[in-house]
This record gives sequence, C-alpha cells and structure tokens, in this order.
Amino acid sequence: MKKKAWSGRFKEKTNEAFEQFSESVSYDQRLARYDLRSDLAHVEMLARQKIIAKKDARKIIQGLKQIQREVQSGKFKFRPELEDVHMNLEARLFELAGEVAGKLHTGRSRNDLVVNDERLWLKDELAKIDGLIEELLKAIVAKAEKHLGAIMPGYTHTRPAQPILFSHWLLAYAEMFLRDHDRLWDVYFRADLCPLGSGALAGSNYKLDRAFLAKTLGFAGITMNSLDAVSDRDFLIEFVAALSILMSHLSRLGEELVWMSGEEFGYFELPESLTTGSSIMPNKKNPDAAELIRGKTARVYGHLIALLTLVKGTPLAYNRDFQEDKEAVFDAADTVSSSLEIARLLIAGLEPNADRMRLACNKGFILATDLADYLVKKGLGFRQAHFAVGKLVRYCEEKGKRFEQLKLGEFKESSPLFGQDVFKLLSMEASVKSKAVPGGAAPAQVKSQIQRLKALLGK
Ligand code: ARG
Repeated sequence: MKKKAWSGRFKEKTNEAFEQFSESVSYDQRLARYDLRSDLAHVEMLARQKIIAKKDARKIIQGLKQIQREVQSGKFKFRPELEDVHMNLEARLFELAGEVAGKLHTGRSRNDLVVNDERLWLKDELAKIDGLIEELLKAIVAKAEKHLGAIMPGYTHTRPAQPILFSHWLLAYAEMFLRDHDRLWDVYFRADLCPLGSGALAGSNYKLDRAFLAKTLGFAGITMNSLDAVSDRDFLIEFVAALSILMSHLSRLGEELVWMSGEEFGYFELPESLTTGSSIMPNKKNPDAAELIRGKTARVYGHLIALLTLVKGTPLAYNRDFQEDKEAVFDAADTVSSSLEIARLLIAGLEPNADRMRLACNKGFILATDLADYLVKKGLGFRQAHFAVGKLVRYCEEKGKRFEQLKLGEFKESSPLFGQDVFKLLSMEASVKSKAVPGGAAPAQVKSQIQRLKALLGK
C-alpha cells in the first residue's frame, strides 16, 4: 500500500517537512509488540462477534503473526513517511495479506489503539522497574546486615547531630524505595483498564465485545467513558510523577554517597569500577556514577512538567498534541531503570570504613542530647537540662576539650545533678542503644527492621 491510509479526501501530497515534523514511528515503534497483540485480540473479537468472516480473520491473523516475527527479529522496516507505528504495521499487513487487511481497522481508531498500547506497555514497564527496585532493596538490606556494628554521625543541617548505625542510615533509603514500590503498584491499578471500543471518541456502532478484549489482553476491566478514554493521559503523568519521587530518593542517596566517600569524610570507598579518573589530575577518583544519578533526576522532573503542560488546556477528546507524550515517558522509564541498576551496583560495592565513621563521631558534641536526657532523668525539666548542657558545650569549646576529657567537677559546674554515672553515658554504643523506640537507632531495632525487610523481600 503506497498511499496513506487516510488519503481519500486529499488532493495534495503531504509537505515533506511536515511529514518529518509529524512522524512518530522513529520512537513509537517501541509499541509495535503491544500494537500487534491488540490487533490479534481485535481480529479474534471481530470474528467471534461475526463482524468479519472467520476466513478473513484467519488471513489477517496469519499476516499479523508474520509481522510479529519480523518485529521480534528486528527485520521489520519502519518507514517515517507512514507516520506512526500503527500505520506502518497496517501497511505491511496489506503487503502480506492483500485487501482483506482493510478489515482490521473495523470498529477501531488509532485514538483508542494508541492509549491501549501505552497502557499495555506501562504495565510491563512497571513490573520491570519494580523488579529493579527489589534488587536495589536486597543490596541495601544485605549491606546493612553485614555492617551492623558500624556507628556514624547522623546529621541535621549537614552538621553532626547524634550517633546512629551505618545500617540505620542505609535502611532509611530502603523505606523510601518501599514507598516507591507501593506508588508504582497504585499507578498500575489505574492503568489496568482497556480503552478499546472507545473508537475515535464516541464509541462504536459495531457490537464489539469490550470485556473479551480486556480479558484477552490481560486488563482488569474496561474504561467507562469513550471521550475520556481516548484523551486520558493521567496514567502516564502518575507514572512519571511516581518516577520523579523515586529519582528524588536516588538523587539524595547519590548526594550522600558523593560527599561521604570523599577524602574529608572517608566513611566508605566507592567501588573503583564505578568511578572515573581525571584527564589532568592523576590523583582523582571521581564519584561520577553517583553524580550522574543526581544529574539524571533533572530530566525525569523535566518530563513530568512536559506531560502536565502537554495536557493542560487540551479540549476533549483526542488531540495530536498527545503524540508528544511518548518520548517523555519512554525516556523517564529508561533513565530510572539505568539509575536503579547503577545505584544497586554502588550499594553492593560500597566498602564502609568503620574507623573513619567512628572518628567523625568525636566532632560536634554529638552526645549532648544524651547528657540533657540524663539530667531529665535526675529530675530536671528538659528545657533547663538543654540550657545546662548548652553551657557545658560552650565551656568545652572555650577550653578545646571534648565531653570525654572532662572531670566530674567540670560537669558539676553546669549542673550539680551530674554524678559519677555520667561517664557511663559517654559512649557512642550507649547512645545508640538507648534509642530503643520502634524505628529508632538502637541495634535491636535496626535488626528487627532488617528482619522485616528480609521477610518482605522473601529472603
Ligand atoms: N501517533 C498518534 C499518537 O501517538 C496516534 C493517534 C493518531 N490519531 C490521529 N487521529 N491522528 O497520538
């Protein structure tokens, strides 16, 4: 079939620049396998409903299966002058099956077909990305379990705050990725409806069996308003919104990996295979993998804004604007997938340096809150205790001392309630151990979170 499928009412040839401008097959060919699955279900349904003859359906199915093989083996030649993936596949069907191919599009429009393909694609993609999240979670939990003893400073405002376990820090990211997993399945639930039968916008005057189409294609149900169904892109926006949140987590992890592995901190070494050297400075081992994860977050956010802007103000029902949704969602999905994989490798290869973490705990008076809590247990109000320990910190700063170097008399200067037992408190182990509330920094709590996560991950 040389002429365009819609050429009937046209006298003039399409402008070549416009043809290039409007083609989408260079990127929507990614939907070919879903388009073919939809075609096969549609033809089968048309024959069952006696809308087309069984023998015609057989010929069409034979042609479609041949095209499936060509697409799978990479032999299929997509042609930009045929506009999009749908027209490319149909044109090839005409070559293979002859005029009977003209019956495939009965009771159907590209408008319902394209969202159907996108929904099928999205469901597969969600499962794939969720698998990558699971792998990352497993790497996090394994690392947390292996280095359970290591204590590091926890921060607020990038200043040392209170001691925590390295494992507790790692598991904070596990919680974020668990929420991402939940969010993606929530997106799945709303994407899992079949729009076929909505036609161009008004539905169909053939007796299409929409439930059969949904079931054959593995959807949980059907969409309920044909106008909405062909113009709804919420499921894609939600997807990229969930991916954006996920990227914010990966980006925060990337950021912490960058500086915590730097020479000044040295809390851990990044695997050498995921770092790069400098073209001028022979000394450099740069954390590019973590930086790129942080950097790629920007494009995923960009795609979210692009999609929201794309649908803003579009009248019902279908508009060609919607074609622009694909590059954004495809790139968002690809960027997140590769970032998850690199993050997993970074975590798996992380070599913690417990001594460096421990040494860093000596800075910033990170047991100050424990001292205040000690005074509270001796009967002081928390505010008053806070003030007394604040004075002690100032005293130490003036004398260039740490709490551990003070004599009992010096403690008593700030509060007479300090007794000999205060020295028992001056240990990082004692501090983390005392954070025994559920979800707290105590080793027993962290261990139980590891067990919970392992059970969730089926290990
Ligand atoms: N390539 C189009 C898209 O992605 C398919 C639907 C075209 N429909 C139309 N009426 N031109 O949106």
